[in-house]
Amino acid sequence: MTIYWKLNGSKDHPLQANKDHNGSNGLPSQASTSGLSGSNNPAIKEAAQLLQRGETVAFPTETVYGLGADATQTQAVKRVFIAKGRPSDNPLIVHIAEKSQLAGLVAPPDETILRLMDAFWPGPLTIILPVLPGAVSPLVTTGLNTVGVRIPDHPVALELLKEAGCPIAAPSANSSGRPSPTHAEHVAADLQGKIGGILDGGPTGVGLESTVVELKENGLYILRPGGVTAEQLQATLPDTVIRKPDSNIEIAGTETPRAPGMKYAHYAPKGELQLVESASPERAAEWIRRELAAAKQRGETTGVLTFQEHQSWYAADLVIPCGRLSAPETIAHELYAALRLFDRKGISYILAETCPREGIGLAVMNRLEKAAGHRIAQI
Ligand code: TXA
Ligand code: MG
Repeated sequence: MTIYWKLNGSKDHPLQANKDHNGSNGLPSQASTSGLSGSNNPAIKEAAQLLQRGETVAFPTETVYGLGADATQTQAVKRVFIAKGRPSDNPLIVHIAEKSQLAGLVAPPDETILRLMDAFWPGPLTIILPVLPGAVSPLVTTGLNTVGVRIPDHPVALELLKEAGCPIAAPSANSSGRPSPTHAEHVAADLQGKIGGILDGGPTGVGLESTVVELKENGLYILRPGGVTAEQLQATLPDTVIRKPDSNIEIAGTETPRAPGMKYAHYAPKGELQLVESASPERAAEWIRRELAAAKQRGETTGVLTFQEHQSWYAADLVIPCGRLSAPETIAHELYAALRLFDRKGISYILAETCPREGIGLAVMNRLEKAAGHRIAQI
C-alpha cells in the first residue's frame, strides 16, 4: 500500500494536508483538507516516521520529485533500487537539510566548494565530495569513495529532511528509463504500490534535475547539466575552469569524469523522436512540415514538440507548445510532462525543435538529445 498525502500550499497555511490511506488507484484523495502548517504537519511527520522505519517516500523538490530513503539503512536504500528498477551500479545523491549535517558525511570541504555551497544551497546543485567511511550505506555510493550531496530548495523537502533527521538518499521518483516526475501524478503512474508513500506538493519548479559537479585539479566538471547553469557557476568561481559535458566527451575513455548514470540509455519515448536544428527557425519549420506530411502518408500518428512562439506553424495529431523560447526556464519546467504526454497519446513519430544550448538550455538539450537517441537533423 502506498500512502498518498495531498499538501496544498497557501500563504496562511503553507502546508495543508489530507491523507488517503487507500492508495489503490494512485489518485489524490478527494477528502477535505485540514488546516495544518509548519513542522506540526502530521503528513510530514508520518512520512518522516516511514523513512526512519526504513520505508521509501516520494517527495517534491524544486527540481523534480525524489524517491527518498534513509541513506544509512541498507535495506531502505535497497527498496529504492527495487522500486525504480535502477541498475545497482548507479549511485544515489544524498539530501540534507543544513550544512551542519556535512560533518558526519564528507571530508571538510575546501574554500572553492564552500563558495559553491554558499552561492547555490539550498538549490539545484549536487556536489560530489569524498565520503567518510561508513557514513552512508555502500549501496548509495555503489562502492565509490565519493558521494553526491545537495540541500534542496523546497519547503516540503526541507521540513521532511529536518523531521527525519538523517541524510536521505533520493534519486528521481520515476521508474528507470522514464522521464523524471514533475507532478505527483507522474510518481503515482510509475511507482504506485511499490513505495511507502507520496507527498503531493504540486508541480515542481525547475522541472529538470540538479546540476551535478565535481571539482578536480584542472577545473570544475559539470557531470550532468541541470538547474544551476554553467554561466552561474563561472560567475561564482571566476578563476576556475568550468568544464561542460560536451568538452568532457572529447577525452572520453581517458580519466574523464562522468556521472555513472550518464552511461545508461535515458528516457526514450515509445514513438520515434527526431530533433530538428537550424540557424533559421522558419527553415526548420518548413522541413518539419514536409516530414509531417510524409509521416502522415506512411500512416504514422504524428507529434511536434515546439514552443509557444511557433505553435501556430504546425498541424499534427499532437502539437505541444513546451514553454517559451523567450524564457527558456519555462521550457525546462514543462519538458518532462510534455514527453510523458506523447506516450500517453500513443504518438508514433515526433519531431522536436531545439533551443540554444545556453543557460538552462544546455540541460534542456542534454535531456532532449538523450531522449532522441542523439538523432538530430541539421537543416
Ligand atoms: O534534482 C535532482 O538531482 C533529483 C532530486 C530528487 O534531488 N535527483 C536526481 O537523482 O536526479 P538521480 O539519481 O536521478 O541522478 C543522480 C545523478 C546520476 O546521474 C548519478 O550517476 C550521479 O548523479 N551521481 C551520484 N553519485 C555520484 C558520484 N559519487 N559520482 C558521480 N556521479 C554521481
Ligand atoms: Mg533520475
